[in-house]
Amino acid sequence: MSVLLTDQQPLMSNTFTFESLQRFPGLQADNLVAVDASDRLVLAQAAEAIEAAPAGRVVVVGDRFGAMTLGAMALHGARDVRVHQDPVTGEQALANNAERAGLGATRTGLTDGFHQLPLTPELFTGATVVIGQLPKSLDALREMAQLAATHAHPALTLFLGGRVKHMTHAMNDVLADSFTDVRASLARQKSRVLVAGGPRPHGQAPVTAYPLRQRHLDLDLWVCAHGAAFARTKIDIGTRFLLEFIDRMHPDAGTAVDLGCGTGIIAATVARARPRLRVVATDESSAATSSALATAAANGLAERIQVLRDDAMSSLPDASVDLIVSNPPFHLGASVHSGASDKLFRAAGRVLRPDGELWTVFNSHLPYRGRLTRAVGPTRIVGQNAKFTVTMSTRSPRDRPGESWATAP
Ligand SMILES: C[S@@+](CC[C@H](N)C(=O)[O-])C[C@H]1O[C@@H](n2cnc3c(N)ncnc32)[C@H](O)[C@@H]1O
Repeated sequence: MSVLLTDQQPLMSNTFTFESLQRFPGLQADNLVAVDASDRLVLAQAAEAIEAAPAGRVVVVGDRFGAMTLGAMALHGARDVRVHQDPVTGEQALANNAERAGLGATRTGLTDGFHQLPLTPELFTGATVVIGQLPKSLDALREMAQLAATHAHPALTLFLGGRVKHMTHAMNDVLADSFTDVRASLARQKSRVLVAGGPRPHGQAPVTAYPLRQRHLDLDLWVCAHGAAFARTKIDIGTRFLLEFIDRMHPDAGTAVDLGCGTGIIAATVARARPRLRVVATDESSAATSSALATAAANGLAERIQVLRDDAMSSLPDASVDLIVSNPPFHLGASVHSGASDKLFRAAGRVLRPDGELWTVFNSHLPYRGRLTRAVGPTRIVGQNAKFTVTMSTRSPRDRPGESWATAP
């Protein structure tokens, strides 16, 4: 998406405050915030560089809800900012917060405000400043650092912040593979910024090719993964258990969705096992959907699998799908939180046709059966091993889910 500013608008927004930022449509709860000390610290550390950068030279990566993008624009005059956010809900939150801060207006006499790009060379071409949140995984950091070092301006400085408790020395090492100068800021309010400069010239830095590819002989499956995708090219043990039940899933289904598809392992396995099924692989994450596209192609299934970047199937009509298969998230950012899976279960209740089935897997200690029953319909345990439970929930033809189901334990 693009948001445009006008020359008539004041360069520094007078309505932007960190406190006014909201997470919506990201999950909201008392203990979940839209901005933290690491956002503020990155902006403080990068202030001078942002203010000195010409229009079009500032890039923001991993902004969660817009604090960095809008802060750079409103407090430090950044213009024509290129932004990459992995979850689609992050993009929507940024757009909503921009609108609320008066940074989302479109008039005449246009100067670009910010625009969203995928994680590709175009995101970084010619950039002199990159600011952002440190990603959770080293592969995500490596993929981003390599792209930035290869395609940005030689004078690039990168400022990536995080909570000290989530940072490791391995992050410095990953940055040092692509940049000659890497240093850490002093810690402030339990946050720190890694600052990197001096992109290593082409040929003088180790290069990892993304998406990564791995062949799993036992499943006869290629798995492709961009840096930020769940489980990299591995097959999660919960997913592996769920795959054992494919032959028992809705025998008459014509349409199936791999909900929260990650690298697309479930979609690829289901599509191959059930040649008449139309399969949709969907995830909110851009790394996931790019990976799922690559996995489908690597297994010769590109024609069979439609890949959709979407928040909890929001673009699929009610009662339109026969079978949903999902290994749901139980983390939200760095914390364990049931909101993320509840959202997917409610979406399954909406999108399944009457008699449609949701097959899911979860750690056996989690109280998901009752939640599935309330959100979708009667839920049966179909398999259990030492760690995981696989359930099948059936969308009843009689009632709307949530209205009449007895609560299972
Ligand atoms: C546990 S991973 C499973 C990935 C993959 N299905 C597998 O088995 O390897 C859960 C996935 O759900 C996705 N996800 C979380 N919240 C989502 C949402 N609101 N809409 C769509 N996908 C979501 C995450 O991005 C992640 O890829």
